[in-house]
Parts: sequence; structure tokens; C-alpha cells
Amino acid sequence: MIQSFAKIIQLTKITDPRGNLSVIEQCKDFPFEIKRTYWIYDVPGGECRGGHAFKQNEEFIVALSGSFQVIVDDGKQKQTFTLNRSYYGLYVPAGLWREMDNFSTNSVALEFGSLHYAPEDYIRNYEDFLKLKQDGKL
Ligand code: TYD
Repeated sequence: MIQSFAKIIQLTKITDPRGNLSVIEQCKDFPFEIKRTYWIYDVPGGECRGGHAFKQNEEFIVALSGSFQVIVDDGKQKQTFTLNRSYYGLYVPAGLWREMDNFSTNSVALEFGSLHYAPEDYIRNYEDFLKLKQDGKL
């Protein structure tokens, strides 16, 4: 089951009448050491992002603002996660195809990676992804 691989992780939420605060600390209730942080924003309505799989990079995705969906696919099953709060996120291990869509206006997707950017770690062709999965190479 995909669910046992990609999973929602709750973050610390410090509620405060002045405004809430959430935090991620390296190696503290977090599944990997963070090497990279990037964010996706100003996504035009109807656009889809992130159609790829990583060979080794693990990631954690937070809807810092607004909402969007992440569709995770292990080559056999797909599962859709809706992210719409900044106090939890989706952990996606390596070796899964994932896409992001249904971005709301002004949404911001914050992504943490376990590796530095490396184009060779990406699988961007879905047929290649399926073949690697079928051959047990991913
Ligand atoms: P891309 O991986 O295609 O975005 P998406 O999340 O939609 O799949 O990245 C878009 C461009 O940004 C591409 O030219 C690679 C570049 N990029 C970097 O240079 N460093 C990074 O850490 C990331 C995530 C992307």
C-alpha cells in the first residue's frame, strides 16, 4: 500500500493569539537530514507541477499557504493527498512518481529534500518510471 510509504507527518504547532507558529528541526521527529529547501509559488490556475520520481531523494512537502493536491503513484496504485495547512506535511520516500495539481490562488508549496539538486536523480518520463518499477530497479 502506498499509504505505508507516503505519509502525512504532523508538525509542532504553537498556537498563540498573536498568530501560530510551526517548526521543523533537523533530526527531531523528521525522517531525513535536510539538504535542500525550495518552494513553488505563483502557480497559474490549472497548472500541474512535479511530474517526476526521484531515484534517491526523499522529500517532505508542506502547504505553507493555500492548498494543492499531491498524487503519489508507486506504479500500481495512486493516492491523492490534499495539503491545506502549514502544521503538517507529506513525506514522500524515493522511488515514487508524484505530481502536484489543484493549486489554489496564492498557494505556496514548501519542499524539503534529502539531497542537493541533481538532475540525474530525476526520472521525468512516466514510461521509464514504470519500466524501472517493473524491473525492480526502483
Ligand atoms: P522541476 O523539477 O521541473 O519542477 P517541478 O517541481 O515542477 O517538477 O524544476 C524546474 C526547474 O528548476 C528545472 O529547470 C530545474 C530547476 N531546479 C533547480 O535548479 N534546483 C532545484 O532544486 C529544483 C527543485 C529545480
